[in-house]
Formats: sequence, C-alpha cells, structure tokens
Amino acid sequence: MNMDSVSLHQAVMTQEAIEALKPTSRGSYVDCTLGGGTHSQSLLEASAPDGRVLSMDVDPEALRRAREKFSSYGQRWVGVEGNFRHLEQIARESGWENCQGVLLDLGFSSDELADRKKGLSFLTDGPLDMRFGPQSNDDGLTAAEIVNGWRREELEQMIRDYGEERYAGKIADKILSARKKARIIGTLDLTAVIRSAVPKNYERGRIHPATRTFQALRIAVNDELGALREAILGARQILAPGGRLAIISFHSLEDRIVKLALREADDLEIITKKPLIPSAQEIAANPRSRSAKLRVAKKF
Ligand SMILES: C[S@@+](CC[C@H](N)C(=O)[O-])C[C@H]1O[C@@H](n2cnc3c(N)ncnc32)[C@H](O)[C@@H]1O
Repeated sequence: MNMDSVSLHQAVMTQEAIEALKPTSRGSYVDCTLGGGTHSQSLLEASAPDGRVLSMDVDPEALRRAREKFSSYGQRWVGVEGNFRHLEQIARESGWENCQGVLLDLGFSSDELADRKKGLSFLTDGPLDMRFGPQSNDDGLTAAEIVNGWRREELEQMIRDYGEERYAGKIADKILSARKKARIIGTLDLTAVIRSAVPKNYERGRIHPATRTFQALRIAVNDELGALREAILGARQILAPGGRLAIISFHSLEDRIVKLALREADDLEIITKKPLIPSAQEIAANPRSRSAKLRVAKKF
C-alpha cells in the first residue's frame, strides 16, 4: 500500500458518534469533516448494505486518500472537496437533502498538523499559511497576512478572543516590533516572537506558550466559528424529520456556539442535555481526545 494514502489521524469518540446517529441501511448520512475517514467508514459499515454517505472536507488531501480507501463502497460513498459552511448547497447538489444524519468533528487532523506546508505546527518550521485547504476562506487570507498586516489592536483582540490568551497584548506588541525589522515568514519565527513576549515560567506550564496564539490564528484564517454557525443552519435545512445532528468540538469557543445554536433552534430537540465526553480508556489511548465534547440533537 502507498504509505501516503494512510492517514495518521486517530478519530475521536467514533463509537459514541455512531450510536448518536443510529445509522440504518435505508439512511443517507453526511460527514462534514472527512479527515482520515474513520467516521465515514464507520457510518458506511453501520449502514450496510444500502446506506449512503456523503463525505466532505476542505482539504484536498483528505479526499485524495479517501478516494483510494472507499473505492470498494461504489455508489454508497461520495466525496466532495468543499467547505461545510456550504453544507446545504453541497448536499442538495449531491442528492443528499432529506438525510438522516449529519456529523461534524471539528478542528484539524493529525495529517494536517504533520503537513509542514500548512504551517499549523509551532514545533516544526513551515510557512505561516494555516489554511486547511484552498476553500478555507474566500479571499486567500493566510496567517502571514494577519501577522504582518493587521493593526496592533486587531491582533490583540484576535489572540485574546480566539486564543483566550492572557498575554495577547504583550504578544501583539512583540509581533509589531519584530515585523518592523523584518517580515515574519515562518512558524518558528513566530514561535520565537511569542516566547519573547511571555514570562519565562509560562514555558513550564501545561501547554506550549505558542498554543493559544496558533489556535487563534487558525480560527481566524479558516473563519472556523463562522463556518460552524453556517454548517448548523445548513444541517437544519437538509435533515429529514427524525434526522440527527452530532457535533464533536474541542474547545470552549466551539462548544459554546454549538450549545447555543442547538438550544435556540426551534426545529431541533436536544438529545444530550450534557455533552458526552470520551471514556477514560480513550483519553489514555489518545490524549488528543481529552477535550472532546459530543452534542447531539434530533430534527422535529
Ligand atoms: C478532526 S478532523 C476529522 C477527522 C475525521 N472525523 C476522521 O474520522 O478521521 C477535522 C477535519 O475537518 C476539516 N475541516 C475543518 N474545517 C472545515 C470546513 N469549514 N469545511 C470542511 N472541512 C473542514 C479539516 O480539514 C479536517 O480534515
């Protein structure tokens, strides 16, 4: 097997997500976040022999890998490169309206983190891009443009709001003084600037000092919160009565949006009064899962 076609990504809460969606052989399902394909494959298996799965991802590499992996499912599987903010349109164009389930597993995959060209890691050098794919935003915005072009106040607010970073002001100051000398080009250049802005003991904390700033930039570049809100609206349009929506989020900004959007939707019944979380065994086997929360709702 071509190793390039094997995903590094370890999916999170797979069993819980499938139990939430209750796939049947007569059903059609949309996986909005194909990634390494584990959830899509589990949906295909759980809806055998006739259930259909439409998988989308904004990252063309995810589609390339899946086309190889899912060829044996024939017409039961369709893959589309696209942004889930256009979920309704993509589902209608693909013949997936009136579906029985929609799944979103937010954030990025380990394959994307390992892809240096994407510049998502603060530990390895790469260009300050951070787009998951070409359709991540409409204007081609990259992290380099934000870091080198936004005003100080805009930088501080973005880092504070999307990173929940308490040193946002200091980091914005250091970015401004660094870019006066030379354009900030690589991820490790930015990591060094962030390090110079935060107290030394921040380094010994639970997370790397660049974690929150990188999260903020990623959210801004991919307009992650805006796309999530639109995806939930789209899901409500395409779910058939009784159809289920399952969303796995990884940080409080996402979870808050999901919780409020589900609560405010008058056409959804909330199934999970409290979000489901991974089992202790899953967290031990896959530490990345520790912050996952799964919320589920059913269309009236
Ligand atoms: C956590 S991974 C999904 C993993 C997947 N559930 C699995 O079983 O391997 C998240 C995926 O969502 C994709 N993604 C993020 N934002 C997106 C968007 N707005 N539209 C479509 N895909 C998006 C990323 O490119 C990434 O591949």
